[in-house]
Amino acid sequence: MPDASDGRRLVTSDTFVSFADVSVTYGSGAGRVPALENISLDFAAGDFVCVVGPSGCGKTTLMQALAGFLKPSTGTVSIDGRPVDGPGVDRGVVFQQPALFPWLTVAGNAGFGPMLRGESRRDRAGTVEDHLRMVGLWDFRDRYPYELSGGMQQRLAIVRALVNKPKILLMDEPFGALDALTREKMQEELHAVWRRTGMTVLLITHSVEEAVYLGTDVVVMSPRPGRIIERIAAPFARRESAGCSRDTKSLPAFVALRERVLSLIWQTAGT
Ligand SMILES: Nc1ncnc2c1ncn2[C@@H]1O[C@H](COP(=O)(O)OP(=O)(O)O)[C@@H](O)[C@H]1O
Ligand SMILES: [Mg+2]
Repeated sequence: MPDASDGRRLVTSDTFVSFADVSVTYGSGAGRVPALENISLDFAAGDFVCVVGPSGCGKTTLMQALAGFLKPSTGTVSIDGRPVDGPGVDRGVVFQQPALFPWLTVAGNAGFGPMLRGESRRDRAGTVEDHLRMVGLWDFRDRYPYELSGGMQQRLAIVRALVNKPKILLMDEPFGALDALTREKMQEELHAVWRRTGMTVLLITHSVEEAVYLGTDVVVMSPRPGRIIERIAAPFARRESAGCSRDTKSLPAFVALRERVLSLIWQTAGT
């Protein structure tokens, strides 16, 4: 039920994450960079929100505001009605370049978060094994990050976020550096985790196809200063059967939506 009795902004019951009139400006004076301007965006628990837009439009800034790594210049970001005022274990973050500890093994990296949280050695071993098996890294548990391919490192970075059982998973172009085949496999793995856990996901991607395929919602941003041009509901993430991703991606309805999003981006790029 909407409730404004305590003076907060009116929040409907299914709003989980809310950006309310958020602007972010970097620097000052002549070096002032308006990165985000009046972003208002609400989404519900369990939504898979994909953000697309040209380089420099503020996608990473948007994610950092939700992660709690930066404070908006104006406006508020809130989770479940509470303003974000710093990072927290309710949010797992995956960066474009995998952030791993080079001196720890695969299992050591995966178990680092649970160790910090004081999880017992036995529980931790179980959590680590489940997650490494899930992404096909169990056989590599004693290796070090430098012994892994880029795709494997990124899978480990995703595990590091997932082991903390975040309510919200934030991912900044996580598959950008992967080859096409690995990328499609990673999309399937991420999609399976999302369906199983019901997590809320914010994924930033350069790939419109990826956004339309994975997202329940696709948010299209304009060039700097970043604004939301359009938010489009996408039906493919919640389709009944997982099936073959190429089958879905070649459906006429899929192609039409992909082209619609692409043309929005092109229009706003002014070319
Ligand atoms: N720490 C910073 N200091 C100054 N300018 C920044 C900083 N981070 C990002 N910017 C600028 O803000 C704009 C948005 O950046 P960013 O959020 O990284 O965009 P995107 O992720 O969409 O490429 C860009 O023009 C970028 O140069
Ligand atoms: Mg970025």
